[in-house]
Amino acid sequence: MAPVRNARVVFNEVPAPNTFPEPGKTTVYDDSETIDPDTVPLNGGFLVKVLVLSIDPYMRGRMREPHLKPRIYASFRTHNTFTNFAVGRVLRSEHSAVKAGDHIYGHMPFQEYAVFADPAYLGSDVFRVLENKECLPWSAYVGVCGMPGATAHHAWHEFAHAKPGDTVFVTSAAGPVGSTVVQLAKAGGLKVIASAGSDEKVAFVKSLGADVAFNYKTGDTRAVLAREGGIDIFWDNVGGETLEAALDAAKRFARFIECGMISAYNAEGYAPKNLTLIVGKEIRLSGFIVGSLYHKYRDQFYKEIPALVAAGQIKYTEDKSVGLEAAGEAIVAVQKGTNTGKKVIVVADE
Ligand SMILES: NC(=O)c1ccc[n+]([C@@H]2O[C@H](COP(=O)([O-])OP(=O)(O)OC[C@H]3O[C@@H](n4cnc5c(N)ncnc54)[C@H](OP(=O)(O)O)[C@@H]3O)[C@@H](O)[C@H]2O)c1
Repeated sequence: MAPVRNARVVFNEVPAPNTFPEPGKTTVYDDSETIDPDTVPLNGGFLVKVLVLSIDPYMRGRMREPHLKPRIYASFRTHNTFTNFAVGRVLRSEHSAVKAGDHIYGHMPFQEYAVFADPAYLGSDVFRVLENKECLPWSAYVGVCGMPGATAHHAWHEFAHAKPGDTVFVTSAAGPVGSTVVQLAKAGGLKVIASAGSDEKVAFVKSLGADVAFNYKTGDTRAVLAREGGIDIFWDNVGGETLEAALDAAKRFARFIECGMISAYNAEGYAPKNLTLIVGKEIRLSGFIVGSLYHKYRDQFYKEIPALVAAGQIKYTEDKSVGLEAAGEAIVAVQKGTNTGKKVIVVADE
């Protein structure tokens, strides 16, 4: 085969603090490279055609000067290709762990084709050869059956200590993390209060069975929480003023699952003024990074969740963009909330 285009998306420039990434400035699409899939040296590794890439909120935290913040995740390196969770198909392999035709899940570059020759890649926590007995679309494996779904599943099991009849408040409830939490909570017999940023998202959350769903941009979070009674569990994807409102509405011994604080990813964060309530109400506040829970829950997750999704017992929505050219806009959409479901980039068909 003659060489083919091997387009990629480059992290071009660190965005200024408290600003959104800018397509064309932060992210640059580059279609100047080529690759010959038949002859590219594998050096004991394997060649993958990238099929679908995930766009996640945490990517904003990796777009920083490496020395500025404690390193939870490695910073993206400027002028290098972005990487994130993805599904790809193995085209050629010299490695015994994968064979041509396998579909794999792992961190992949924002590029059409990639060679993986580093043995550490196969040993990474997220790497997996996907069986997909349920014949789900591959995109599901970067969303409800991928890292975001695992975030909801693992942390719910670890930190919620949920009992039937408890009340949970879930924020960003239409996204892949929040919508999975809503459904796990309903399956466990809880009352679910859920917030999202548009009427369309609220309608989706209601369709999942949330008892109370509201648009926090047009409604009053404090008024809803006051009306619906105290909360036993708070699933926090947002932080800031919403966290402050949840602390006020919390019951004694409430569990706060601190999953994300997106209100502070692109802006100066708002610091809640009522943190002393954590002491008086004896609130258990659990911050976490999903990777720390993989070892405990991953096998259970892959056994349970794809089957529930295939049976329609766990629902999900996707917001697909086609082609790597769309990655810059997609990254911003997730930060601003203009995405209407799990944001994915379809890089190629089978
Ligand atoms: N701890 C972990 O290991 C872990 C792992 C994965 C994800 N997370 C976190 O989980 C959260 C949800 O992730 P996801 O993948 O499901 O994302 P997502 O819901 O697809 O996208 C993020 C959503 O955040 C909302 N948002 C954006 N800016 C906001 C603001 N200023 N105030 C309030 N809401 C805002 C928007 O929804 P609305 O339109 O509803 O506002 C946006 O759609 C994020 O905070 C993410 O960082 C944590």
